[in-house]
Amino acid sequence: MKTVKIGILGLGTVGGGTYEILDMNRELIEKRIDREIKVEKVLEKNMDRLKALGLHESQATQNPDDILKDPEIDIVVEALGGIEPSTTFMLTAMENGKSVVTPNKAAVAANFDKLHKTAQENNVEFRFEASVGGGIPALTAITEALAGNEFSEVMGILNGTTNYILTKMTDLGLDYNEVLKDAQAKGFAEADPTADVEGIDVANKLSILMALAFDKYVPPTEIPTVGISKITMDDIEAAKAKGCKIKLIAQAKKVGDSVEYNVKPMEIENAHPLAGVSNEFNAIYVTGNAVDEVMFYGKGAGALPTGSAIVGDILAIAKAL
Ligand code: HSE
Repeated sequence: MKTVKIGILGLGTVGGGTYEILDMNRELIEKRIDREIKVEKVLEKNMDRLKALGLHESQATQNPDDILKDPEIDIVVEALGGIEPSTTFMLTAMENGKSVVTPNKAAVAANFDKLHKTAQENNVEFRFEASVGGGIPALTAITEALAGNEFSEVMGILNGTTNYILTKMTDLGLDYNEVLKDAQAKGFAEADPTADVEGIDVANKLSILMALAFDKYVPPTEIPTVGISKITMDDIEAAKAKGCKIKLIAQAKKVGDSVEYNVKPMEIENAHPLAGVSNEFNAIYVTGNAVDEVMFYGKGAGALPTGSAIVGDILAIAKAL
């Protein structure tokens, strides 16, 4: 059986979740793709994280080049987060002939064209399913199973942290800051949760969705964005009185030849399917001229759901090697 070697940059929530799945489902994966997936090296300085996952210290490095330039490594998983140095690391990995998998929506959205062009020039794969909707396979669906459609609309709930906060405020009357701490402890929130609560994380994800569905790249900084940090209990109660729930909604819609897009909290009627999307769950609605309406639903954040999408990308690449 062929062995495919991978390097993981960062063993935080998502990098750790990825390793856990590869370990937990090793036999099943090997049988399924007829490849052994070996984690050759990880970029991580926290030895406690390493040990908690059963990795040996000798498998860790603090020098990214030990992974990015190691001729033995076939696939690099970038799970550090943030635009830099992650983007530079991904480009270096591709320039060194490695395929790249990442959940890093900030880096993908900021450098969409450059990352794709570099992958093409170096004849390697670049996959980022986990960057939008955590474990929901919406990007692969849009680019593969639904590739025969012209899309007219993409919308949904794309952030687990804010949906978790809004759900707990609505259902239990809990305080915003308390619930945010809870979401951080559960590994849903970004290192700096400002990106979550101010809608920046959702704008990154909408930018990626639009690039794939409409072939139209809009930098996330140009997407009109309002987060949930100013939502009060009074707003929640006022929505409830109207039979609605407040949800942070991302929308992109074709209008003639152009696309209209924004991210903002909206009152959603309780009968609408999006009102039933609770806690860290996400939902993505796609409308295509052949398939009509499709809704994807699942956990949008957390170690194993996000790791699930990363492992799916790794296997898609590995089985073709
Ligand atoms: N902070 C993100 C969220 C993680 O809460 O949805 C998944 O992208």
